[in-house]
Amino acid sequence: MPWPDHLFLVGCGNMAGQMLARWLACGLDPARVTVLRPSGRAVADGVAVVTGYPDALPAGTTVLLGMKPYQVAEVATALAPLCDADTRIISILAGTTLAELRARFVGIRDIVRAMPNLPVGIGEGVIALHADAPTAGEARSAVEALMTPLGLAEWIPDEALFNQVTALSGCGPAFLFRFIDALARAGEAIGIPADQAARMALATVQGSAAMAARADADPATLADHVASPGGMTRQGLNVLDADDRLLELLIDTLTAARDRGEAMARGE
Ligand SMILES: NC(=O)c1ccc[n+]([C@@H]2O[C@H](COP(=O)([O-])OP(=O)(O)OC[C@H]3O[C@@H](n4cnc5c(N)ncnc54)[C@H](OP(=O)(O)O)[C@@H]3O)[C@@H](O)[C@H]2O)c1
Repeated sequence: MPWPDHLFLVGCGNMAGQMLARWLACGLDPARVTVLRPSGRAVADGVAVVTGYPDALPAGTTVLLGMKPYQVAEVATALAPLCDADTRIISILAGTTLAELRARFVGIRDIVRAMPNLPVGIGEGVIALHADAPTAGEARSAVEALMTPLGLAEWIPDEALFNQVTALSGCGPAFLFRFIDALARAGEAIGIPADQAARMALATVQGSAAMAARADADPATLADHVASPGGMTRQGLNVLDADDRLLELLIDTLTAARDRGEAMARGE
């Protein structure tokens, strides 16, 4: 069982809410979960919601920091005194470094940074993980086991790559939503009724991604397999491939997202 003895979520909005929903769907006992959220809004049947900090955290608690990054100082001031040597902290706060977390949670050995993306709610997400030397191997395994029901969990050895990874998988769903929309609108532009083009674009992306995930060949090879010389697909690929048009566009896209992450980390 991947479940911690107790899970304490600080904040349960869009992202932490998706993670918790998936954990509950996969069998996490709601009685093991406490959510702290200022609004006090209910989360799910059986999950305790509190609006302030308890006097103590149960033994073997894993804390998920799921509020906004700028709230870390305020949260740490209240939370750190409640933690003991066995408390594990998982932070999904974008841009908040392990060094900063260690400075705010002095005496906590096991701290892991996690960067999930939104499809974690349906178990099809990507979660980048990073831990530094003091975090025990057992804690890393426990965190990985907790993340596995959410999708693909990947360790990032170099924390400096976190912004790059966030640009790819964290922001990626929005980029793919744009692509699906653009494919649909392109279909409409060449004469397909809009609603039909939208359904077909989505199903095409869904089917192609599922097929690529199961295939032995990589996506570049799959594209070439579909494209017979002189055929329609090849003609279309020639447009995407000319001067690496699509590749260059995506490099620019990820670079812009990464640069924004770095600027935000500098407080800009
Ligand atoms: N959204 C994404 O795609 C994404 C991806 C990766 C990482 N993240 C990270 O996830 C974190 C949350 O983002 P989000 O989009 O889920 O934000 P969100 O929907 O605004 O949720 C924020 C949560 O924090 C709670 N909160 C507000 N003030 C608080 C306080 N003083 N102490 C404790 N909790 C407080 C809110 O409580 P109420 O529910 O009562 O309002 C809410 O549950 C951020 O650090 C972000 O960097 C987000």
